[in-house]
Amino acid sequence: MKFFIDTANLDQIKEAQDMGILDGVTTNPSLMAKEGISGDEKVKQHYIDICNIVDGDVSAEVISTDFEGMVREGEALAALHEQIVVKVPMIKEGIKAIKYFSSKGIRTNCTLIFSAGQALLAAKAGATYVSPFLGRLDDVSTDGLNLIEEIRTIYDNYFYETEILAASIRHPMHIINCAKIGADVMTGPLSAITALLKHPLTDIGLAQFLADHEKSNK
Ligand code: G3P
Repeated sequence: MKFFIDTANLDQIKEAQDMGILDGVTTNPSLMAKEGISGDEKVKQHYIDICNIVDGDVSAEVISTDFEGMVREGEALAALHEQIVVKVPMIKEGIKAIKYFSSKGIRTNCTLIFSAGQALLAAKAGATYVSPFLGRLDDVSTDGLNLIEEIRTIYDNYFYETEILAASIRHPMHIINCAKIGADVMTGPLSAITALLKHPLTDIGLAQFLADHEKSNK
């Protein structure tokens, strides 16, 4: 399973990249706003800065909700760097835009997926990735993991090449369960990724090893 980090924070992206396990980055307008990045030129420069830190795909989201606007924005974003994947919302105009981008060889990430039907449409339009929002479904008492399972089954039935990018990950168990189901990618915060490292028995065991080494080397 590929590991993407879901942030526009350059320090966190660098930290994940330095661990050697990072495969890409996802951003959205809320995450850009959180970092205080605004204005067309600054936003574009920030995407380039992210691409220069990581080796993999970097999702950059369009703001337009009409076909022409999405195409204009998406083409400009894709031209910024070869690692850019154009993130397009799951609406009718978005599906048209994904089909267009697919015919032009521009890679896409269809975002705000909350149902299997939406994921099926995005795959038919030729999306490179679909982003089902796991955590936000859990937030409204709906099983987000069940949606990932449904999409996995549908894509496997028809050999769709669209990759399932499990998004809105909140904690390490989301990551582990996505890996069990067979999500192609997960995107989450640095805190969820680093939480995978932790186990008290590892800490106790390491402390014991170091103490024994110290004793026998006195
Ligand atoms: O980037 C899309 C998604 O990962 C958002 O996550 O935590 O805002 O639901 P969250």
